[in-house]
Amino acid sequence: MATDRRPEYFKGSQLRVGIIGLGYVGLPLGLRFAEAGHRVTGFDTDPAKVEKLNRGQTYIQHIPQNKIQQFVQSKHFAATSDFSRLAEVDAILICVPTPLDQRREPDLSYVEQTAQSIRPHLQRGQLVVLESTTYPGTTEELVLPVLEESGMKCPIAHGPDNEQIATDFFLAFSPEREDPGNKQYGLAQIPKVVGGVNPPSGRAAVSLYAQIVSRVVPVSSTRVAEMVKLLENTFRFCTLLLLLWGI
Ligand SMILES: NC(=O)c1ccc[n+]([C@@H]2O[C@H](COP(=O)([O-])OP(=O)(O)OC[C@H]3O[C@@H](n4cnc5c(N)ncnc54)[C@H](O)[C@@H]3O)[C@@H](O)[C@H]2O)c1
Repeated sequence: MATDRRPEYFKGSQLRVGIIGLGYVGLPLGLRFAEAGHRVTGFDTDPAKVEKLNRGQTYIQHIPQNKIQQFVQSKHFAATSDFSRLAEVDAILICVPTPLDQRREPDLSYVEQTAQSIRPHLQRGQLVVLESTTYPGTTEELVLPVLEESGMKCPIAHGPDNEQIATDFFLAFSPEREDPGNKQYGLAQIPKVVGGVNPPSGRAAVSLYAQIVSRVVPVSSTRVAEMVKLLENTFRFCTLLLLLWGI
């Protein structure tokens, strides 16, 4: 396994990609990386989903079973609940739920739990990307401190002066903007917004996603990327309300 990964490493072929959370967002994302020729390991806490996937079965209506079977058979996709296997991958993409709690506030316990599952297995030069929908600040304030408990550092630093800053691992945020089941605009056609905790992290994440989508839009920080998703959801919500009210 490569231990000296630089941002450009993620432009390479046959990367090992780990996806945590194999739901509506994580499963199609994993299959897209498999389709692009990478080796994908999906991680989920639900053993029933893991078993189904490894048998080549689907549990999401619009994801065809034959696609899963094809990549399981070619060994481009496998699922597991063994989080120690996170140490084997080049990039880890977090796609766990962020539901609203009883007070209508985002419940980030799944994201925090996931960061804690990654920490003991985090490797130097690994890229970690949060994709779950959340409020601006989550990647730097919640995920980063947990991962840095590993002893490795990923300094928060923005702007051109920090292009070459040293970092032990890469950390970024890239919101999932998929519209599940939309036949006209699939994952590959929807531009991917990407922001890093520092410039090398941003470059690493841009290199990775450029392999599976037609357009990547780099932004200056994780906070900007987090805000993009929030603005987009707010815009959609207001538009739907106006339509409902017949305005
Ligand atoms: N579904 C959508 O249309 C959509 C679109 C854009 C963004 N999002 C966002 O993406 C994120 C994921 O949403 P989703 O719809 O895929 O959720 P989902 O409920 O369909 O899937 C989440 C998966 O994560 C697994 N999981 C839960 N805790 C885990 C843990 N600690 N470790 C590993 N796996 C764990 C669950 O078993 C489940 O399989 C959310 O933040 C959501 O807001 C969803």
